[in-house]
Amino acid sequence: MNKRLYIETVGCQMNVLDSEMVVADLRRHGYELVENPSQADTVLLNTCSVREHAEEKIYSQLGRLRIDKHKHPEKTIGVMGCMAQKDQKIIFERAPYVDLVVGPGQLQQIPELLEKIRSGGGRQMAVSLDRKAGAQEVIRRSHETFDPLRDPTMRPTPFQAYLRIQIGCDKFCTYCVVPNTRGPEQGRPPEQILSEARVLAEQGCKEIILLGQTVNSYRYAADGQTTRLAGLLRQLHEIDGIERLKFVTNYPKDMSEDLLTTVRDLPKCSPYLHVPAQSGSDDVLKRMKRGYTVADYMEMMERIERILPEAAVSSDFIVGFCGETDEDFQKTVDLVRRCRFKNSFIFKYSVRPGTKASERLEDDVPEEVKSARNNELLAIQNAICEEDNAAFIGRTVEVLVEGPSKKSVKRGDDGPLVQMTGRTPCDRIVVFDGNRRQAGHLLPVVIHDASAHTLAGVVRTQHTGPEVFGIGVPAGA
Ligand code: 5AD
Ligand code: SF4
Repeated sequence: MNKRLYIETVGCQMNVLDSEMVVADLRRHGYELVENPSQADTVLLNTCSVREHAEEKIYSQLGRLRIDKHKHPEKTIGVMGCMAQKDQKIIFERAPYVDLVVGPGQLQQIPELLEKIRSGGGRQMAVSLDRKAGAQEVIRRSHETFDPLRDPTMRPTPFQAYLRIQIGCDKFCTYCVVPNTRGPEQGRPPEQILSEARVLAEQGCKEIILLGQTVNSYRYAADGQTTRLAGLLRQLHEIDGIERLKFVTNYPKDMSEDLLTTVRDLPKCSPYLHVPAQSGSDDVLKRMKRGYTVADYMEMMERIERILPEAAVSSDFIVGFCGETDEDFQKTVDLVRRCRFKNSFIFKYSVRPGTKASERLEDDVPEEVKSARNNELLAIQNAICEEDNAAFIGRTVEVLVEGPSKKSVKRGDDGPLVQMTGRTPCDRIVVFDGNRRQAGHLLPVVIHDASAHTLAGVVRTQHTGPEVFGIGVPAGA
């Protein structure tokens, strides 16, 4: 029986992790992975619903697969992830040749559903209940997390792994589809997280990136005891073999003193904090129902600066949200200038069906204004990145080496010396000339050049100490 699987993943880190789990599961059921859809008997698209553009791309990819399916009717095509949960039957209506629709809460059913399709059971769909469809507990149970299976070959690199500590979100920001697609916020039990982390360490993983939509709101209560992120980090820190711990994405209101001091006191915790601000205008934040003001956000920044002065903070922004005036936008520009983020992900507002904003607020900022604001904010952020990265020239940073850089892979470099890439504890990308055996190691690299998004350096050996550059700065960024 042919079981050749092709899987394509778009969207956030949660999706990357979900794909890893699905591949691990299907491998156990005898599937092998192939590199393009035409070689496959089963094609799975892991989808994202956060912006309309991401969905359109999936529908056009499905359009391309139609031709394939026409030639090979026995091929199974499946749509999984957030768009599957959001659109459900609509996917079958728009693309009648799709065989399988599976939400993020039902991924563990995929092998069984594929089997049903193979044995002539026809189209299959498995999704979670709508958030208003019944009692809290019933809805919660319909969003099952799917984590015990891991597949190192599916990771961004074998030395780094995502580890989910929380599913869903209860914040209900008015623009966001995630509370609907991924369901209620639920913390995973600490013992499950710890045993998964031990497995990852045994598999050679050096860096664990904890995942949650609002990861710093993590809590798990059992037997009269509540575990929060800080406590979890302290326990994960004990695991031998794990050298770095990061966590994304943070919610500004929950960036507590306790969490920040824990990050400061645990050497394996990276001083890197992704804390989306979304806007610099109180009026817009209110309409987004973010639950904080600009003053609250600045207070959080001061807290970070006081406890973790070396921290790198990054952010997300939505431009052109309903009712955003030029004045509101200027306030966002001011916030970016004041905070000097390590980087910012900037998005044009996209109306999402089922959200409060889609029901109650008018998408009244013209597309060209959204684009202009996007470009302006990006240019300001890039200038900050360039200036702040330039300050690294002459410093030594500790790099977790990931592998050959994109550039050297593209060039097909196969000599002993290749351009390698890795990241500093504060998540800055570093390239240097090295060899493949360095992958997975933590190396001191002296920075000699910098652009907005990349630092370039040389591995520091006895012969290339910082004295060569005349500046002695301790390792670490
Ligand atoms: N339109 C544009 N951007 C959005 N995001 C979430 N929902 C939307 C939307 N409807 C952005 C937010 C979030 C990031 C993951 O995506 O900035 O932090
Ligand atoms: Fe969406 Fe807001 Fe939850 Fe983030 S905190 S996932 S933006 S609802």
